[in-house]
Amino acid sequence: MRVEVNRASGFRGTFAAPGDKSVSHRAMILAAISRGECRISSLAPGADVRSTAACLAALGVEVRIDRGEAVVRGTGPGGLRAPAGPLDCGNSGTTMRLLSGIVAGAGLPAVLDGDPSLRRRPMRRLLDPLRAMGARARGQGAEVEADERAPLVFEAGARLVGRRHALPVASAQVKSALLLAGLWAVGETVVREPGRSRDHTERMLEAFGVPVSRGEDGAVGVLGPAPPLGVPEAFPVPGDPSSAAFLVGAALLVEGGEATVTGVCANDTRTGFLRVLARMGADVRQVDRGSRGGEPVADLVVRGSPGSLRGTRIEPDEVPSLVDEVPLLAMVAAVARGTTTIRGAAELRVKESDRLSQVARGLAAMGARVRELPDGLEIQGGAPLRGADVDAASDHRIAMSFAVAGLAAHGATRIRGAEWADVSFPGFFSLLAAASGGAVRP
Ligand code: S3P
Repeated sequence: MRVEVNRASGFRGTFAAPGDKSVSHRAMILAAISRGECRISSLAPGADVRSTAACLAALGVEVRIDRGEAVVRGTGPGGLRAPAGPLDCGNSGTTMRLLSGIVAGAGLPAVLDGDPSLRRRPMRRLLDPLRAMGARARGQGAEVEADERAPLVFEAGARLVGRRHALPVASAQVKSALLLAGLWAVGETVVREPGRSRDHTERMLEAFGVPVSRGEDGAVGVLGPAPPLGVPEAFPVPGDPSSAAFLVGAALLVEGGEATVTGVCANDTRTGFLRVLARMGADVRQVDRGSRGGEPVADLVVRGSPGSLRGTRIEPDEVPSLVDEVPLLAMVAAVARGTTTIRGAAELRVKESDRLSQVARGLAAMGARVRELPDGLEIQGGAPLRGADVDAASDHRIAMSFAVAGLAAHGATRIRGAEWADVSFPGFFSLLAAASGGAVRP
């Protein structure tokens, strides 16, 4: 699908942020391995979370999704069964990595596979520590390169032992997989990361009755075997800051734009982009709205001020808290006056696409001055953007980022593969069309 985005003369609206994707995956998975029924409301609407639901069903869990609510009847940690065929994780890295922790822990024979984008992503960082705990698992391609890829094959019956892991790169997906596997392992599983990645798994484990240890160095751990003790009857999912970010960005880049995004998860391991936008001179206010599902939530109130934005430096230690927002921040940087430098973001090369190179290519086509660095980007902002043809590269966040840039560009920006937005934010282009008074033609 190709969507055309034109320069917007206004942007106005109040939006309820769609349910958070990271929290939705985790709530379904923890409910699945608990005993009892859990109603998860405001579930993330995209394809990724449906991939997790389908995989859990293939593992013998009763899951129903209806109008934004998932009802999960957990089997308990011993009740999962070996799937009859490969588990299809679709485009979802979180599904593949978190469920690897589950099948390894439960000792189930299983194959985890995904679409061509997911098959390209690095999995040794996950398999090595799982194997160190005793899992028998392998990926593909180890004989030809120093990594392993999906499909991932897990053999039956391995009994895991807790280990202390030091991850070379901060990754909430890998950390979560190891903590989940640690629920079945004998002894303590501890994960230390070089940076602080999102902590939803830790928070939620505690909500499901599993004690989590936290070290001074930021390491987190579980003492296994530790079956979840209780399942909340209702689990309300907070709004997704990573989806909200696109609406915030759209309102910011349109002169006179005014938007409010309500109910956004304001966990500071997720909101690095708001701190960066504040440094760039953006007018974005956070209005505290209490908590949902064990996470703080806030409304984000934005006023468009493209002329007052200025460049900034995004440092490596900030990257884990804004890892999914780098493409959007790059669009804002292209409009802001002065230079923005992003370093320590090499991880972006192994997301749903090589996001550094896709961003650099698309922004250059739009007339921005951008230099691709091995681990980041350097953007000299302020030159007028012009519409261009941009490819989503099978990547939801690339599709949505360039739509935002298109609202600020002169002439038409055509986004090929715009349907990829459905992976995390179905309906995004219709919202954008309505709020921009028709500048977007879905
Ligand atoms: C996620 C973690 C991040 C993020 C992804 C979702 C999660 O990946 O990019 O979109 O839900 O744990 P890593 O922390 O593995 O880099």
